[in-house]
Amino acid sequence: MTDTLTELSARVPRNRLPYGSVLETIGWTPLIQLTRITRGLRTPVYGKADFFNPGGSVKDRIGLPIIEQAERDGTLRPGGTIVEGTSGNTGVGLALVAAVKGYRCIFTMPDKMSQEKVRLLKAFGAEVIITPTAVPPDHPDNYVMMAKRIAAETPNAVLANQFYNAANPAAHEASTGPELWEQTEGRITHFVAAAGTGGTLTGVGRYLKAMNPKIQIIAGDPQGSILAEHWRSHGANTVEGAPYKVEGIGQDKLPGTLDMSVIDEFQTVSDKDAFAMARRLTREEGLFVGGSAGLITHVALNVARRINDPDALVVTFLCDTGERYLSKLYSDEWMRENQLLEADRATIAQVMNLKAGETPVMVSTAPGAPVRQALRLMTLHDISQLPVMDGPVCVGSVTEHTLTARALENPKLLDSTIGDVMEPPFPIIDVNTPADNVAKLLSKTNPAVLVQANGTVQGIVTRGDLLQFLMAR
Ligand SMILES: Cc1ncc(COP(=O)(O)O)c(C=O)c1O
Repeated sequence: MTDTLTELSARVPRNRLPYGSVLETIGWTPLIQLTRITRGLRTPVYGKADFFNPGGSVKDRIGLPIIEQAERDGTLRPGGTIVEGTSGNTGVGLALVAAVKGYRCIFTMPDKMSQEKVRLLKAFGAEVIITPTAVPPDHPDNYVMMAKRIAAETPNAVLANQFYNAANPAAHEASTGPELWEQTEGRITHFVAAAGTGGTLTGVGRYLKAMNPKIQIIAGDPQGSILAEHWRSHGANTVEGAPYKVEGIGQDKLPGTLDMSVIDEFQTVSDKDAFAMARRLTREEGLFVGGSAGLITHVALNVARRINDPDALVVTFLCDTGERYLSKLYSDEWMRENQLLEADRATIAQVMNLKAGETPVMVSTAPGAPVRQALRLMTLHDISQLPVMDGPVCVGSVTEHTLTARALENPKLLDSTIGDVMEPPFPIIDVNTPADNVAKLLSKTNPAVLVQANGTVQGIVTRGDLLQFLMAR
């Protein structure tokens, strides 16, 4: 199935025809299979790479429909001003359109947002007003409240109003949803995203549920946002929001554009887990994304692990580019200052990834093989030990050091079988075992471990492999 999807996209040429403006390049973002952070999982997981949009985020999708709607309504006329309270990305989506169509932009933005985002909006010619994050949602200094006031007081100005504008979820129902359906040939089974305005979840959820009501719509929510609790209690529990660091998703107030009825499950995720996963997406998959994509992907992997089904197809949403967070989650100093950096959470899966280029991944011998053949095998592959495999089961081990010493003492040993001379098998560990724990298992007498995922041996990690991994880090 994986092959079919990959082959399909290889056949479809991209950007073959010229575009009339940058706005025509919005949408039809790639769907990319995640192959490394999913190691050991049977469920295929794909990422919808919306950071490929020209403004670097999912929010490019809503800028044009919102502005065109205002033009049709007559609320926005030539030379007019677009005002919005934005965590940054919507600002870029609107500013792109404003640049092409010649409108002025004024954006209000909470002060927790990164400097990169402020500079970015200014680069498009927008005026940016920074507001305090730590004020209640109805306070006049709240960024959304302030945007409303500016729009009301400025002549020929329109509030984009992403939190209440039906054009926002409609944009996803008309673009993101159909793209996912087509890109997976209708085989998508789980869609995982998070709600800022809820436009993505609502629009994609509506479209996919209409195509196949069995598709599960799963939401990630930052610890501190009120949305998950609101969903769990069907609105009965009103909790206070608490601050968190992930940007663009979660809320302290229910947005009008979020239709909770399309959501089948909510999972709450900490900043630490969200950022750790964003960094892994970058380092292990080459997908340079922000914290919200990390949070959503953390949930997607939970789902993939739980359903453990090779015929399912989980899609995680990769909302925006990591370039927006170089001074935050991609800065070790900032991560440490905020107690968000784990000392070393590397797992043996990452050690295996480093070895992935090597072939074969594991060389083994069998109990019935002659000793001389095993020694030849080790010389050929320049390795010092071999697991002894009886079919899929490791029944023993041999090392070059011991075999050589014993064969020199007694050359007849070269013609005995491995089963007669082998030593106990190497320890078997799970692919998600922390690399630190494995280091403790490895010694001169026990030079390697076998790595298994879902009950099957996937490869071998030796003392040398672990050392090479630690040196590369
Ligand atoms: C980085 C990021 N991720 C996700 C989202 C959520 O998208 P939506 O507003 O469609 O719920 C946003 C929205 O601002 C965002 O900026």
